[in-house]
Amino acid sequence: MRPLANGATMRPSILVTGGAGYVGSHTVIALLEREGEYSNYDIVVVDNLVNAYSRAPNEKKPESIRVIEELTNKTIHFYPLDIRDAEGLSIVFENHSIDCVIHFAALKAVGESVEKPLEYYQANITGTCTLFEVMRKYGVYKLVYSSSCTVYGEPERLPLDEGHPTGRTLTSPYGRSKYFCEEIMKDLCTSDKKWMVISLRYFNPVGAHRSGRIGEDPSGIPNNLMPFIAQVAVGRLSELKVFGNDYNTVDGTGVRDYIHVEDLAEGHVKAIKLFQQPGFNGFHAVNLGTGTGYSVLQMIAAFEAASGRKIPYKIVGRRSGDIAANYADVSLSHRMLGWRATRTLDDMCADTWRWQSSNPNGFKKV
Ligand code: UD1
Repeated sequence: MRPLANGATMRPSILVTGGAGYVGSHTVIALLEREGEYSNYDIVVVDNLVNAYSRAPNEKKPESIRVIEELTNKTIHFYPLDIRDAEGLSIVFENHSIDCVIHFAALKAVGESVEKPLEYYQANITGTCTLFEVMRKYGVYKLVYSSSCTVYGEPERLPLDEGHPTGRTLTSPYGRSKYFCEEIMKDLCTSDKKWMVISLRYFNPVGAHRSGRIGEDPSGIPNNLMPFIAQVAVGRLSELKVFGNDYNTVDGTGVRDYIHVEDLAEGHVKAIKLFQQPGFNGFHAVNLGTGTGYSVLQMIAAFEAASGRKIPYKIVGRRSGDIAANYADVSLSHRMLGWRATRTLDDMCADTWRWQSSNPNGFKKV
């Protein structure tokens, strides 16, 4: 705890950048639900609200954060702030005794990143470097980074282990921004042994909090499979396009390692525990997946079973940049974090459906 001028102390805090977004909000609730473990920590969220909905212009907190406070009966310190704003970030570090940072804030639409590379590099790389500068200024060296299996590019072998080469065959500025940030973090760790960095490489996060009150709320037409299926099921979209059925997979459609967002969130909670291990330092990349792949057609069938709704679909050509299959080698996450995904595909579909059917328009109550 940091001492204050009046002799009192500030509670230690966990700073979550991008905490109002999909994975960020589920991680915030996972931290707050950890009775005992992090109850003496304050949770501080900064988010520029680029992908978050607020129910009224004068509402101080976005809907995801407001709902989490309601569900947990706890207060979250919220700053509507872009991480490129070094002065604003400094105020956050002045106001709170930040112990560690979980860094989600980034742009993440693959197609959009091809059209707007500068915006993506600005937000994802300049923003990340600005955050690191402010962390260093305030002597905060513990970091969990939100990375992606996209850094592996086209798999040379499956399952994908953390030793698989990264940075090759990347097809989008989004993917490259995640790879570049990992390289920057490696350089930081080489430059100063005080840095402790855990880069969590997510496979395909899906699902929603079991309450059905928070979940994925993409703006516009979803790019990713699960939110698209959910919006077809609820009647917002008429039909799913299946991108290719001529891959060398179980049924010809693309295979991915889908992971429940609550499992993913718990992976972050486990990761920050590593910071307490004596002698822990340096850069560590860890996969967060289940180790099992499902095809698009298997996902459709599972969602139909969970929702009781028919998902009309049409097979169309392959989407450019797509790979046939990827799934994680999860042995390092077991060994290092003592973590494994426990939720099944049925849980992922049932929880997505609970969220989507009770909030057909996402956080917007139209
Ligand atoms: C995509 C991104 C990846 C990012 C990840 C985040 C691309 C090329 N890759 O991964 O960089 O880290 O999201 O979760 O965008 N599919 C359909 N119809 C659809 C949508 C998807 O058939 O309308 C298929 C895809 O071809 C793929 C599977 O569903 O086989 C999963 O697609 P998606 O959810 O977009 O994830 P990824 O492509 O794995």
